[in-house]
Amino acid sequence: MNIPLLDLNAQYLCIIDEIKNEINKVIEKHNYILGIAVKEFEEDMQSYLGVKHAIGCASGTDALQLALMALNINEGEVITTPFTFFATASTICRVGAKPVFTDIDERTFNINPDLIEKSITDKTRAIMPVHLFGQPAEMDKIVNISKKYNLKIIEDNAQGIGAIYDGKPAGTIGDIGTLSFFPSKNLGAMGDAGMCLTNSDDLASKLRQLRVHGENPKYYHKWIGLNSRLDSIQAAVLKIKLKYLNTWSENRRKNAKLYYELLAGVKEIKLPFIHEKAISIFNQFTIICENRDNLMSHLQKNNIGCAIYYPLSLHLQECFSFLNYKIGDFPVSERLSNTVLSLPIYSELNKEQIEYIAQKIIEFYK
Ligand SMILES: Cc1ncc(COP(=O)(O)O)c(C=O)c1O
Repeated sequence: MNIPLLDLNAQYLCIIDEIKNEINKVIEKHNYILGIAVKEFEEDMQSYLGVKHAIGCASGTDALQLALMALNINEGEVITTPFTFFATASTICRVGAKPVFTDIDERTFNINPDLIEKSITDKTRAIMPVHLFGQPAEMDKIVNISKKYNLKIIEDNAQGIGAIYDGKPAGTIGDIGTLSFFPSKNLGAMGDAGMCLTNSDDLASKLRQLRVHGENPKYYHKWIGLNSRLDSIQAAVLKIKLKYLNTWSENRRKNAKLYYELLAGVKEIKLPFIHEKAISIFNQFTIICENRDNLMSHLQKNNIGCAIYYPLSLHLQECFSFLNYKIGDFPVSERLSNTVLSLPIYSELNKEQIEYIAQKIIEFYK
């Protein structure tokens, strides 16, 4: 058996005719830049997430940068997690602010809200939680801290579209939430794409200007913005895929349930912990395991795709050495970067494939 970490072809085969049809509509109308497909997809996303404004842009990275710019964060500090994809922290630096890392909760992989207050200084402007692997961070606690210290919240929801925390959709709880439609996300484009979410009319209006060079009206520039529009062809693809997203996420949860059943007795691994207030969309199924690197080789030898997200905490990345962090500053994050392994969890995975993966893991620890 050969099981990739992600099988985009399996998803594609189910929806290809609908997607081609929708792309053709864009081509026939030559409506390429912020055209009808973008508007329709933004409206669909607003209804899907119950958020007032959805503003498409060119990537999840740009969505973070636009969010920071819209909130006037061009200096000071932004508190975030060191256990995330690079863009969470790089965009903070890009706008001229400083990322201040705070360690994570070993169970959820998300920023530990009980450590946030210790990181706050008189320069702190915002908190940027990440809803890692599809499980929302503890937003109730984070919102309370933000209110107490008058801080903004940008939710990096690149990995958590459709996830819920305490009854609320992830990405719609803070001042601005961001999405990535990178192809490996639960809602993936056929290229790069991203989005900002907000319930504020003022922020939405500014974000819409910032994504087109900060102009309003045309050729009059109020801000120095970006060229970061959501591509119409990507919007057409995403509009079709959004209709299937709930089914796909439900399938991922079913796959996770099967892993929990099959791997419950393996004492060398810890299965993902889901917070009682959270509904995860399982963008990844990430286990903590003993002898991780050898397990990974064993699975790869058996043609099972798996990956390490993330092998090096951001505070130890070479490019962030100017922040003066050192080994040992964030022990949980550092430990997990040596022990986590993500297994296939995509929607089209079948029972036999999951049983095969579980069997190979059990075999390894025997
Ligand atoms: C947590 C997180 N933040 C930001 C991004 C950046 O998104 P993109 O790749 O669309 O620029 C990603 C995507 O990988 C991500 O996983």
